Amino acid sequence: MSEPSAPSAATRPVPKPWIAAIHPYVPGKSTGADGKVLIKLSANENPLGTSPLACAARLGGGEGAGDPARYPDPESHALRGALGALHGIDPARIVMGTGSDELLHLAAQAFAGPGDEVLYQRYGFSVYEIAARRCGAAPIEAPDRDYAADVDVLLGCVTPRTRVVFLANPNNPTGSYLPRADLARLHAALPADVLLVVDQAYAEYLEAEADDGALALAASAENVLVTRTFSKIYGLAGERVGWATGAPHLIDMLNRIRGPFNVTVTAQASALAALGDLAFVDASRTHNRAERARFVAALEALGNHGLRPLPSEANFVLIEFSGALTAEAAYKGLMDEGFITRWLPGQGLPQCLRITIGSAAEMDRVAAVLRALAQAAR
Ligand SMILES: Cc1ncc(COP(=O)(O)O)c(C=O)c1O
Repeated sequence: MSEPSAPSAATRPVPKPWIAAIHPYVPGKSTGADGKVLIKLSANENPLGTSPLACAARLGGGEGAGDPARYPDPESHALRGALGALHGIDPARIVMGTGSDELLHLAAQAFAGPGDEVLYQRYGFSVYEIAARRCGAAPIEAPDRDYAADVDVLLGCVTPRTRVVFLANPNNPTGSYLPRADLARLHAALPADVLLVVDQAYAEYLEAEADDGALALAASAENVLVTRTFSKIYGLAGERVGWATGAPHLIDMLNRIRGPFNVTVTAQASALAALGDLAFVDASRTHNRAERARFVAALEALGNHGLRPLPSEANFVLIEFSGALTAEAAYKGLMDEGFITRWLPGQGLPQCLRITIGSAAEMDRVAAVLRALAQAAR
């Protein structure tokens, strides 16, 4: 029999110190300080909304979506089957999550713990630090190279304690992207017992020929997990559906610790229908590419005012401000004109504003407001 633990002098439950050290995730806002509803360009959602087929399925038209008294399919069979068919993956190598967020946390929890290190680039997705701390591991930030990941720098930060490496590709909030050859080099140089998690939340915004090769790595390597989401190009952020693929032993571990009914009835039905409307996905990608290019061109014209759009492969642009107009003033000025964007001092980026690509009219207006603010700043 184990010894009873010593009586505690605490007068209330004591959180684990690694949990108490977590700074809560800050979601993109949709209202101003006065509660006024603003045009939301702060959370990288789809400005085209959701596929009409997915909306119809969500409202009860889809298979199995009609009876909220029943638990959802715990294995998301139909959805995993459709994902497998679309991407050429054995459905047994796919696990669904309550958004890809859940899967990122599960990956850290399954493979790292107290005394271990979880590595990612500076200005990586902010959930990685929370995921590391949540399981008691140490979050380690590798320095960036002009806001982007650098393979050699990342590899230089790998130690015998490194258990998990997170890489968002494209990355949020920077929009930067690591090409296929670099990702292959990173993977090849990592020890076999380090899990590489490639977070492809924005992968569908890339052109097919820009594939970073992560799905192929997940299909062949023992230590690569790829996560994807329905929250971005599929326009289903509110339904919370994500998925991961990798070697069977990785999927097995995530299945052991995920919530048994972690994808709701409506989430499964709407995601399945969304996969059947690839025209909507194509239209979203085309819209994003065109509007991002127009917006970047408008920002580049403000280069003499110190605005620099960083190269983005995602559905947002990170702008660095180094002139008289600060990122904070631009954030407030855009809010005065009805737009909520993402100013990121909490992520070590007080000099930057991240703006989601919205409709053509919204991007015209945002560019015009930034121009006026830059010209007025002294
Ligand atoms: C890089 C990255 N990964 C993962 C997520 C989480 O997405 P979700 O939990 O909605 O699938 C996001 C959301 O913004 C993201 O930017």
